[in-house]
Amino acid sequence: MSSVSDNQLANKAQAWSALFSEPMSELVKRYTASVFFDKRLWKADIQGSLAHAEMLNAQGILSAEDHAAIQRGMAQISGEIEAGQFEWKLDLEDVHLNIEARLTELVGIAGKRLHTGRSRNDQVATDVRLWLRDEIDELSLLLRALQSALVEVAEKNAEVILPGFTHLQVAQPVAFGHHLLAYVEMFARDAERLADARRRVNRLPLGAAALAGTSYPLDRERVARTLTMEGVCQNSLDAVSDRDFAIEFTAAASLVMVHISRLSEELILWMSQSFGFIDIADRFCTGSSIMPQKKNPDVPELARGKTGRVVGHLMGLITLMKGQPLAYNKDNQEDKEPLFDTVDTLKDTLRIFAEMVGGQPNPATGNKEGGITVNATAMEQAALKGYATATDLADYLVKKGLPFRDAHETVAHAVKAATTHACDLSELPLAVLQGFHPQIEKDVYECLSLRGSLNARNTLGGTAPAQVRAQIARHQARLAA
Ligand code: ARG
Repeated sequence: MSSVSDNQLANKAQAWSALFSEPMSELVKRYTASVFFDKRLWKADIQGSLAHAEMLNAQGILSAEDHAAIQRGMAQISGEIEAGQFEWKLDLEDVHLNIEARLTELVGIAGKRLHTGRSRNDQVATDVRLWLRDEIDELSLLLRALQSALVEVAEKNAEVILPGFTHLQVAQPVAFGHHLLAYVEMFARDAERLADARRRVNRLPLGAAALAGTSYPLDRERVARTLTMEGVCQNSLDAVSDRDFAIEFTAAASLVMVHISRLSEELILWMSQSFGFIDIADRFCTGSSIMPQKKNPDVPELARGKTGRVVGHLMGLITLMKGQPLAYNKDNQEDKEPLFDTVDTLKDTLRIFAEMVGGQPNPATGNKEGGITVNATAMEQAALKGYATATDLADYLVKKGLPFRDAHETVAHAVKAATTHACDLSELPLAVLQGFHPQIEKDVYECLSLRGSLNARNTLGGTAPAQVRAQIARHQARLAA
């Protein structure tokens, strides 16, 4: 019989074979294998292995010759995977064993030395962190692009008025730009949360080995520096078993989707015939197979739906961890699909939303085209219904010396009268208004107008055009930095 090591990884059943008297059943092989989803970690896996090999060499654990062979082998493997020529084998269970087996096939004994002082437990934790770190960087750019798109539309519509709602009842007039900037605030917080989570993602488990550390004189700090990680995980048991970073990320991602979902709900309402506030470009909508007149806002609807899926992944990951004793357990293999799907869903959704809201640059003019179309007239008309300026009348009376509670009551009577006459407060004749309070004068009509109401809300964070413009400038400077 050839030595165990000869064939060790060609047939994974033999990777720990001396102890085993029968091969793994086919069903169990399929059940336990992860290669068909974790192969997307290949780049991180190779990156981690190269940093490990470099350190082994620097520490005198691996010869320069073996190190060079490993580098050569990994370069070839990268090429094969990129070209789609790498043969992924279910028998080799996961991305780590697949790559290591191929390395040994290519460079022989040096390949077998790579795993010195390392376990798949610290290896996989490192791979996932490296992969997620890069994905977070991409997501941050996409979040930024969506914020920029919203700011652009806000700037164009800084003075367009629509009804602001509470309880979905007309409350007070607000600028459409102001409304959109509320979402910019949400996505800005999301970006902060991702950046904060990234700091804890970006720490190195490698060197923890299986669970207890290793007897080789590894230099973990060196590996962390090579991989531009912010530090090493300080406890080997925690290093291999911690998935907090994945949960934190998915929680932050869930909030991104919740914000997208709220925006979606508004876009859907605004596009409905009952509102008619906006239109979404045809390429983001679908028709109906039976009703020829239909144009449906499928993209925001689907995004609202996909929010459930991402929040589901968060629940899945939290539940995955709750019953695990230290240290590594195979349960942890279940962290990957929810993470992958969360990242994929978020990336697609953010990309599509930036374009659907803000449009795409026209290569000829450089101007963005094809974003949402705003029907300013419909918005203003809607703001004229529902006595959106009633608070302004109350504030007017307060300025004349009435206590706010009395002013509130007086205006309620005025609204009742306007309802009876089926007209707006601003359409009641001065004599009628004076019937509610003698101190009401001609200048009341300025405060009863939508624009007067908007201009009056000139405190920091308010909807007055001056405030909205200031916020737009602040966001533009922040996003350009
Ligand atoms: N595929 C495994 C995972 O995703 C790699 C680690 C396996 N470790 C082990 N002791 N079986 O977690």
